[in-house]
Amino acid sequence: MPVTPQQLIQWKQQGRTIVALTAWDYGFAQILDQSGVDVILVGDSLAMVALGYETTLPVTLDEMLHHAKAVRRAVKQALLVVDLPFLSYQESVQQAIHSAGRTLKEAGAQAVKLEGGYPAIAETVAHLVRAGIPVMGHIGLTPQSVRQLGFKQQGKSPEEGERILSEAIALEQAGAFSIVVEHVPADLALQITQKLTIPTIGIGAGVHCDGQVLVTTDVLGLGTWKPPFAKSYVNLHELITQAVQNYSGEVRSREFPES
Ligand code: KIV
Ligand code: NA
Repeated sequence: MPVTPQQLIQWKQQGRTIVALTAWDYGFAQILDQSGVDVILVGDSLAMVALGYETTLPVTLDEMLHHAKAVRRAVKQALLVVDLPFLSYQESVQQAIHSAGRTLKEAGAQAVKLEGGYPAIAETVAHLVRAGIPVMGHIGLTPQSVRQLGFKQQGKSPEEGERILSEAIALEQAGAFSIVVEHVPADLALQITQKLTIPTIGIGAGVHCDGQVLVTTDVLGLGTWKPPFAKSYVNLHELITQAVQNYSGEVRSREFPES
């Protein structure tokens, strides 16, 4: 049975920690799914990871759907969540329903994720949930607002912490089933996690969240840059470079093919 949004809420009650990673194509998504990852997110970080952009801002809904469809073909067990990209939901509730609807209908996503918690976004979330679309929130450092916030930690002052906590509460009340909490102090993430009945999925937000998410290229050591809070468990960049150089050497020396 595939993981459901409702199951994540039950896991929080049971104290079972949620494991999430990003995917952008068929091959990696299949490995993640078969490795038993609970949540696979087609994050708009694919703008950097797969498309070579410097921020998430340029990626379009059509590009997200193209990648999400490939991931959908691979994912059998994990909960498949797809990011709504910049300006595919901020314009109006109608726009958000249209974009999220396409994400479920065309790409087969089980849920969408969108950034922000201020009153307008919470209202949008309420409309999506009423339309039958499960929504994951995303607060703290929200990369689609990079031109406003930069890439720095959020919620350091008590006032900012209060604002982020109230955004989390507004999203839960709007019917979100889970919230990504990015790059905030661990004690703020703890406060949010204790206040909510829906699970928090942390990234750069300390050990107290109900789950953790990272960008898969960071975990695998595939990118050239990773944020300080990410951890690499293997250096694939190095391993792949070695393999390619070994192949190149054998082709040039005519050691490969062997006959
Ligand atoms: O786009 C993304 O990869 C994300 C996660 C890091 C939460 O939003
Ligand atoms: Na994202």
